[in-house]
Amino acid sequence: MDIQEQIAGIREACLRELDKVSALQDLEQLRVTVLGKKGSLTGLLRSMGQVAPELRPKVGQWINQTREALESRLEERAAALKAQALEKRLQDEAIDVTEPRPLPRVGVQHPNSSVLDQVIDCFVGLGFEVVEGPQIELDHFNFELLNIPKNHPARDAQDTFYIDDNTVLRTHTSPVQARVMTTRKPPIRIVCPGRVFRADEVDATHSPVFHQIEGLVIDEHITMADLRGTLDAFAKRLYGKDIATRFRPSFFPFTEPSAEVDLTCFNCRGKGCRVCKGTGWIEVLGSGMVNPKVLEMCGIDPSKYSGFAFGIGLERITMLRYGIPDMRLMYEGDERFLRQFR
Ligand code: PHE
Repeated sequence: MDIQEQIAGIREACLRELDKVSALQDLEQLRVTVLGKKGSLTGLLRSMGQVAPELRPKVGQWINQTREALESRLEERAAALKAQALEKRLQDEAIDVTEPRPLPRVGVQHPNSSVLDQVIDCFVGLGFEVVEGPQIELDHFNFELLNIPKNHPARDAQDTFYIDDNTVLRTHTSPVQARVMTTRKPPIRIVCPGRVFRADEVDATHSPVFHQIEGLVIDEHITMADLRGTLDAFAKRLYGKDIATRFRPSFFPFTEPSAEVDLTCFNCRGKGCRVCKGTGWIEVLGSGMVNPKVLEMCGIDPSKYSGFAFGIGLERITMLRYGIPDMRLMYEGDERFLRQFR
C-alpha cells in the first residue's frame, strides 16, 4: 500500500469513528490514537525514511494537511458535544417557577375570638379598659362580695366545681368586678372577658365551660340611662344600626334594680321568626345598677358613687352573630366548621 493510500485510510477511519463518538472522553481518546505522539498519523511521519527523498516534502505536506483537517473536525465535534451536554444539563436542572403547588394551610380565628375582638374594640372605643381575673377563684370574690352569702338560694343557680371549701372554678366573670372595686378608686370603667365554669350538662345551648364578658362602670352620677345608652351603642355596633335593646326586670343579688337585656332579633329584624320564637327579641345579657351593699362591702362609698354592671354570654352572641345552631360545634375543633369563618 503506498503512503498516500495509508494517509487516506487513516483519515477515513478517523472520520468514521468521529461520527460514532458521543462522549468527550472518547473523542479525546480518538485524538490521541490518531494525532498523539504515538498516534497512527504521527507514526507515518516517523517512517518517512522509507519514502523516496524526492517525495518526502510532498508526503510531509499531505500528512500535515490531513493532521490540520482532522484537528479542526475533532474540535468542531468537541464543541458540538459540549453544547449538547450543556443543553441536557439545563433541561435536567430546570426549575419551572410557574408550576402550581398546593397552597399552605392557613388557620383561621375561632368565631368566639373574632366576636370577642369586636366586643372589646367597641368597649375600648367607649373608654373602657380590659381587665382579667383568675379562673380558680376564692368563694369570697365569686359569691360573698357579690352579696351571695353561703346558703343563699342564688348559689344553686350557679352550682359549680369546688376545689375546697373556699375555692371554686369561677361561675361568672363578676368576681373580677369585686377584685377591681376592692383595689381601685372610682372612676372605674372596665370590661373583663374570660372563661367560666358551671356544673351544667352539655347540650345545644349549654356547656360546663363557656365565656363571659363582664362590664363595670363606677363614678359619680351614674344612672340606668348610662347603662342603657352603653348597651344600645354596643348592640348597634355589633349587629347594625336598626338593632334596639329592651330591658326586662330581673334579679341578681349584686345588682339592684336588675334587668335582663334583649336585642332585636338579628335574623328577622324584629318581625318574629323561628330563631326568636316569634317574639322579635333575643335575650343576650344580664345587667343592673351595682347594689349599694356590694359597693359598701368593696369599700366604695354608696352615698357618693353609683355604677352599673353587665355580663354578656360570649358563645350566645357568637351563635347569634353567625347563625350557629349548636354550641358544641364551637368546641369540637372540626376544621369543616372552622373553615367557614375564613
Ligand atoms: N354574673 C351574672 C351571670 O353570670 C350576669 C350579670 C353580670 C348580671 C353583671 C348583672 C350584672 O348570670
